[in-house]
Amino acid sequence: MKLVVGNQKTYLNRSDVLDFINHTSDVDCSRAVVCPSDIYIDMYLDKSKYVVGAQNCSCKGNGASTGEISAEQLNSLGASYCIVAHSERRADQHETGDMFVKKINNLIENNIIPIFCVGENLDEKERNLSKDVVGKQILEVYDSLDPSIMEKIIIAYEPIWSIGTGKIPTNPEIEDVTSYIKDLIQDKYGKRVAVLYGGSVNMKNVDTLNEIDIVDGYLIGGASTKPEEFKYIMSKCER
Ligand code: 13P
Repeated sequence: MKLVVGNQKTYLNRSDVLDFINHTSDVDCSRAVVCPSDIYIDMYLDKSKYVVGAQNCSCKGNGASTGEISAEQLNSLGASYCIVAHSERRADQHETGDMFVKKINNLIENNIIPIFCVGENLDEKERNLSKDVVGKQILEVYDSLDPSIMEKIIIAYEPIWSIGTGKIPTNPEIEDVTSYIKDLIQDKYGKRVAVLYGGSVNMKNVDTLNEIDIVDGYLIGGASTKPEEFKYIMSKCER
């Protein structure tokens, strides 16, 4: 069985969310995680069986942070997971390693599982630097974390060039980076971690991707906003 996590980004308006929930209500979604915009978390928890996550959280706890949403608030809403360090936030909001350390610690303190994203851009891939880049992104955060929390964090390997493009690494390439991540954390900190793959996962490629045993699941963007596609992927990940 593989973990299916949908990152719905800001694709959906309220009526689209209602449609999505209605159109997936005929299947057991209790083992899939949906990360909607925070404003819809309540809707999913009220109207669906999905486990619910957030797409981001504040670096700080409750208090004077206008416009932010804290890990404690997410916990009070019922969120169980939260994405951290998505490449869109690294690029658009200039988020950095020290911020990810704070977010991860806040999430763990509030019993929310962080999904920590790493991945290289196209130029780095073409220069054969995928593992170097991913390793650096992990170490700059993990060196500041208490090893006791590391097994609670899920890592998502999301090559930036694959996000929203329909382009996808080969299975051996995904396997290579995934085992590199697992070995790095095992060798340096003695901890085992789960690793998801993300980037253009859809109903056409999920069967091929499922051949990679070492990958523990998927972080899915666009396809997680289309009910039929998401249902199909969920059904393929149940066994
Ligand atoms: P796509 O599945 O749309 O490529 O997005 C992947 C992603 O960014 C998930 O976090």
